[in-house]
Amino acid sequence: MSEYILRNGRVIDGESDEVRDLLIQGEKITPFEQLNNPDAETIDCSGKLIFPGVIDPHTHMGIPIKSGFSLDDFASGSKSAIHGGVTSILDFSILEAGQTLVDSIEQRKEAAAQSLCDFGIHCNVTRLEESLLNEIPTLIDHGITSFKVFTTYAEAKMMLSYEEIEVLATHLAKHGGLLMVHAEDNTTIEAAGKDYYGRGLAEAKYHGMSRPVEAEVTAIQKIGGIAQRTGCKVYIVHVSSGPGYLEGKKQGLLMETCPQYLFLDDQDYLSPDGNMFVASPPLRPKAGQSDLWDGLLSEHISTLGTDHCPFHSHDKANVDAFEHIPNGLGGVETSFPLLLAHFLEKDYDLSLLARITSQNSAKIFGLFPQKGSFKPGSDADLIIVDPTVPANGWEKELLSKSDWCAFSNLPAIFPQDVMRRGEWMIQAGKLIDSERGKFLAASIS
Ligand code: URP
Ligand code: ZN
Ligand code: ZN
Repeated sequence: MSEYILRNGRVIDGESDEVRDLLIQGEKITPFEQLNNPDAETIDCSGKLIFPGVIDPHTHMGIPIKSGFSLDDFASGSKSAIHGGVTSILDFSILEAGQTLVDSIEQRKEAAAQSLCDFGIHCNVTRLEESLLNEIPTLIDHGITSFKVFTTYAEAKMMLSYEEIEVLATHLAKHGGLLMVHAEDNTTIEAAGKDYYGRGLAEAKYHGMSRPVEAEVTAIQKIGGIAQRTGCKVYIVHVSSGPGYLEGKKQGLLMETCPQYLFLDDQDYLSPDGNMFVASPPLRPKAGQSDLWDGLLSEHISTLGTDHCPFHSHDKANVDAFEHIPNGLGGVETSFPLLLAHFLEKDYDLSLLARITSQNSAKIFGLFPQKGSFKPGSDADLIIVDPTVPANGWEKELLSKSDWCAFSNLPAIFPQDVMRRGEWMIQAGKLIDSERGKFLAASIS
């Protein structure tokens, strides 16, 4: 069994931030009293920051779209994740016609077996049938405790109506499951979009205008009503706008946001690269961003996801109408490095950074304290960062299959070393050949 002593680093998790030693035995963080191996490897971490491995609660590796698949599959996407300090990803099952939920989860687990990160799976429910609802207790027993719905994408047959969502929420409340919602009101989007398609207004900026902030606010408000009536715990994925956040806060919902909504804005649609920024929800006016930051810094928004779903630039560039541009942005690799650079620049609390990028997801998705913590007995997932390395010139080092990054003009600080369950995945910035990740069974907390 390998044993490491990380000596004298600044060890930061969601609960403490102190210069100390950290002992790793095999796959676990271990109390120092248990040091019994005279050959344990000692690594001097003076001046370095040590954080728990990042948990990205929202990725889409190799998902089917109209014209193929998103570019990063579990193998390439997880490589890129590890490079950015992400040791666990939570991805989504895909429910095909005629499939049971259990089958859709098993199929997704098979694909995810290529992942270098440990992985959990949220169950995506894209139609409502009695037999599917009856599968919920079995899924929960097998570690699938979070169930995702869309309030839009009717044309892709992914949407549930609010009435259907309420039925699902009632079942989930009974069994202790968590409802996750992509909250954009479809009626608002269809009404707004028709106007632009009808007038032949096709550029990327109309993508944003066709999915207005009001669509997010309306959906969050309606979902808030469902949460109150059913008692179901609800988590809104990728909250994109200030008004959406304020509505979610009013409704007392759990919320996630993503780097694209914190660092980019709708003016990016006007740049020569406008098509590249098309994702749903779209980028929003800059004015709402300070509310999103307030939400994150106060932890009313508890988690940072990425919605990782990149494409090749030529697949997005050469499209003449916004409604045909593949939707999605890459982000799993750059999320923590961007946030770390920002937190260091602003001198924000680094324990808070550990909570929003790791601990809070572990708690919400039933993985704590196995993940997201440096408690003795937790998995030894960690990243070591030298805070003095320059925060620029990193774009050429990215490992995602995509040739384009939405954040390339921003400062970012990447980890030098990444460990997942006691195994080095990155050392001195270089990816090491390592074991695949394991399925993470969630438990209801
Ligand atoms: O544009 C995006 N975000 N594509 C991925 C699917 C989704 O809605 O999260
Ligand atoms: Zn979504
Ligand atoms: Zn998504």
